Amino acid sequence: MSQISEEDIGRLVPAFYDRVRADPVLGPIFDQAIDDWPLHLEKLKAFWSSVMLGTGRYKGQPMVAHVRHEPHMTEDNFSRWLALWRQTSDDMLAPEAAAAFQEKADRIAESLQLGVQFYRER
Ligand code: HEM
Repeated sequence: MSQISEEDIGRLVPAFYDRVRADPVLGPIFDQAIDDWPLHLEKLKAFWSSVMLGTGRYKGQPMVAHVRHEPHMTEDNFSRWLALWRQTSDDMLAPEAAAAFQEKADRIAESLQLGVQFYRER
C-alpha cells in the first residue's frame, strides 16, 4: 500500500496546474475559464483529498463543470491532460504513490469523457 498524505496532494496539485498553465493548448483554456486560481487550487486539493484519502472534503459536481466547457473536452485534450498529470506525479512522488494517482485520474477522465459524450448526443 502506498502512503499518500495531504502534504503530497498540497505539492502535486499546484505543480500540476503550473504545468497546465504553461501548456500551449491547455493553458489558454484554463486561463479563460478560471478567474480565481487560489480558489481553483483549493478546490482541486479538496477533490484529490476526497478521491485518494476519502476525506469528503470536496463538495462539487465535476461533470457539470466539464460539460460547461464541452467544446474543449476533446480526446486530444484529455490525452494531454493525462500526460501532464503522469509527468508531474512521476516527478514529485514515489513510484507507487504516483501510480495510484495516475490510475485514479485515468478512471475519472474516462467517466468525464463518457459524460461529455452523452451530453453531446442527447
Ligand atoms: C474544473 C478543464 C480534465 C478535475 C475544470 C475547469 C476547467 C477544466 C476549465 C473549471 C470549470 C469552471 O469552473 O468553470 C479540464 C480539461 C480537461 C479536464 C480541458 C481535459 C480535457 C479533468 C480531469 C479531472 C478534472 C481528468 C480529474 C481527474 C476537475 C475538477 C474541477 C475541474 C475536480 C473542479 C470542478 C468544480 O468546480 O467543483 N476543469 N479538465 N478535470 N476539473 Fe477539469
